[in-house]
Amino acid sequence: MGKLRAEVGPAQGDMYRDVLGCSGDLDGLRAGPYIARLFRAEGRALSKVRLGIVGVGGMGTFHAGLIRKGEVPRCELAAVCDAEPANLKKFDDGVARFTDSRKLIRSGAVDAVLVATPHYAHATVGADALGQGLHVLVEKPVAVHKADAERLNAACRGGKQVFAAMFNQRADPLYRKVKDLMESGELGDLIRVTWIITAWFRPDAYYASGSWRATWAGEGGGVLLNQSPHQLDLLQWLCGMPRLVRGFCGLGRRHRIEVEDEVTAYLEYDKGATGVFITSTGEAPGVNRLEIAGQRGRLVAEGDKLVFFRNEIPADVFCRTSRKAFAAPQNWRCEIPVPAGAGQHATILNNFADAILDGAPLIAPGKEGIRSVELANAMLYSSVTCRAVTLPLDGRAYERLLKRLIRESKCVKRTRRNVNSDPAKSF
Ligand SMILES: NC(=O)c1ccc[n+]([C@@H]2O[C@H](COP(=O)([O-])OP(=O)(O)OC[C@H]3O[C@@H](n4cnc5c(N)ncnc54)[C@H](O)[C@@H]3O)[C@@H](O)[C@H]2O)c1
Repeated sequence: MGKLRAEVGPAQGDMYRDVLGCSGDLDGLRAGPYIARLFRAEGRALSKVRLGIVGVGGMGTFHAGLIRKGEVPRCELAAVCDAEPANLKKFDDGVARFTDSRKLIRSGAVDAVLVATPHYAHATVGADALGQGLHVLVEKPVAVHKADAERLNAACRGGKQVFAAMFNQRADPLYRKVKDLMESGELGDLIRVTWIITAWFRPDAYYASGSWRATWAGEGGGVLLNQSPHQLDLLQWLCGMPRLVRGFCGLGRRHRIEVEDEVTAYLEYDKGATGVFITSTGEAPGVNRLEIAGQRGRLVAEGDKLVFFRNEIPADVFCRTSRKAFAAPQNWRCEIPVPAGAGQHATILNNFADAILDGAPLIAPGKEGIRSVELANAMLYSSVTCRAVTLPLDGRAYERLLKRLIRESKCVKRTRRNVNSDPAKSF
């Protein structure tokens, strides 16, 4: 509550004291959910978002660092929570600390919550916080499976409540440029998309760094749930959702793990467009190459370069009109300049704060997180059942499959402590 005085000023402080029917110094009051709701309702009272981070392992600590370094000026770190008390020791400078997310959520100390726990808890903690009227930013993936993502989305009341997802790669200027080109019609109708994202190499030490990692029970999947949600989200953001998915997933093909570490998936879109999505954590050197072919040309995003091969005459028009048997449309190779970008995670955090304080549109609305979850689930479901899956995926059927995989698991997880796992080295 120490911050209330500074944020609301003496006049508003008096007003809230009157409303609450209390006397004395507001600074000395223990914050309750009622006061917090009151302050949230009084939008003008908020000049900064009081953020609580749930899960301060690698990524939660990274986010806390961004706030403390002043990279998210409209957010203050008000509270942290971790199920493992030892992880809270680094927050010994007056930040409220909790070992139970439900207590943080109901403490009144925060306006918003960032969920950075292992994936299964994203939906439960996120839905709890949304249900209590807080604004919520959930790490990717927003849930492990579609049915959980639906429950999470249902908990969002809408209106002024802000629900966002940490799809930080949507803030990458390279993909923003690709989106601009596609939305402006520059590429024409989609013919084919191919994404090879094998630049997620992880050694065994990575999988040994957490008991939850790479198990059906702890993580609910492998590369599709941990590393590639970024690309699955971008894929649907750029090209929309396919209507059919056929996945081939190598379970523990490159590591001694039980979940998928190598995937090839075939996708079919409306109007005959197709896609191939390839990902792996066991291939080096890996590549991150997105290629989108449209009627007007072909875009290639690789590394930090974006090249557009622009057709002089759209492929479908040329196809119908050319009289020459082996002719193809002329094309120009255009290297598209990509502006430098600010830090992706800080951009999402700043956008979250702006959405809460000013109603700014979200870069990555939380409700859209279900789509990358559905794609990941469909690839796994298709692979395990050896058949193509038409979307929308039956979320309950996938949940049953996942429960079966958990029941039948013979995995004995060996974890190693002191593994250097600085998340900033992972993106
Ligand atoms: N956006 C990105 O670039 C990015 C990068 C890395 C990780 N992530 C995501 O962040 C999440 C966390 O990954 P990580 O690498 O930090 O894992 P981690 O294991 O280092 O940290 C997770 C922390 O959550 C705590 N925790 C577990 N259950 C909890 C609960 N119910 N309540 C409170 N605390 C709980 C654990 O004790 C641990 O400290 C994952 O979902 C991952 O996908 C995102």
